[in-house]
Amino acid sequence: MKAIYGNDFAYVYNDKWESWGEKMWPFLRKVVRKKAPYTSTWLDLCCGTGSLLKFVCKEGFSAVGLDSSKHQINYAKQNAPHARILQGDIRQLSLPQTFDVITCMFDSLNYLTLKRDLAKVFHRVQLHMSQNGLFAFDMNTFEGLEDLWCSTTTTHDKNLTIIIETSFNKKRALGRCLITGFLKDGGLYRKFQEEHIERGYKAHEIDELLKKAGFIFKKYDGNSLSNPKKRSARLLYLCYNKNFSKS
Ligand SMILES: C[S@@+](CC[C@H](N)C(=O)[O-])C[C@H]1O[C@@H](n2cnc3c(N)ncnc32)[C@H](O)[C@@H]1O
Repeated sequence: MKAIYGNDFAYVYNDKWESWGEKMWPFLRKVVRKKAPYTSTWLDLCCGTGSLLKFVCKEGFSAVGLDSSKHQINYAKQNAPHARILQGDIRQLSLPQTFDVITCMFDSLNYLTLKRDLAKVFHRVQLHMSQNGLFAFDMNTFEGLEDLWCSTTTTHDKNLTIIIETSFNKKRALGRCLITGFLKDGGLYRKFQEEHIERGYKAHEIDELLKKAGFIFKKYDGNSLSNPKKRSARLLYLCYNKNFSKS
């Protein structure tokens, strides 16, 4: 796989796309406080630039972030200085502790284009969860990529022009997002380009893998945070160990 989230795109991501954590935080905080009020440890997988971790740390959790991009984690270290930030691949997740809350937000799991890798990650997450822990994640769905990944958008400001071209191969369930940017560097512009491939999973495929890994779960429409719609473009899952005890 060609490296993604390189130096220039991580800079742009940190500057323009890091608001997902801010959107999700009030919802996640409410769920965590209600379902698991005595939690203290939080692992954010694919933590990116730390947009969620900064809220998690402010709330007093002992937080760990993991991401494969060294450029993304450099920003995470600045944005969430109290978190322990590690570089690594979630497919090889192996830490010497369990966590009360594990999150993996904003398309991150869509980068796992092989079903067996998604299954492996769910299994590894289950091994890292406290008995009454919560695992929350959101993903683009097959329908979301089919409906929305078919466009070209261009945005400009005085320091950056960015062109985003998306397409979806329905047969392979793979979405392609080609990002071409021109970043101002002194008097000139520096070009960068990244190709991101995401797999669109159908809800029943995700459900099946979660059950196999030993989770019970509830799902929401990932954009409105209400009940799933017929063609929800994004789904948010809240998952518990199937032996979750309510006492
Ligand atoms: C769309 S960003 C989401 C970042 C962050 N969760 C957020 O909400 O802003 C996806 C992140 O997943 C990371 N990533 C993708 N595949 C990964 C893998 N196999 N292991 C660890 N990190 C991965 C990328 O480096 C990137 O930072």
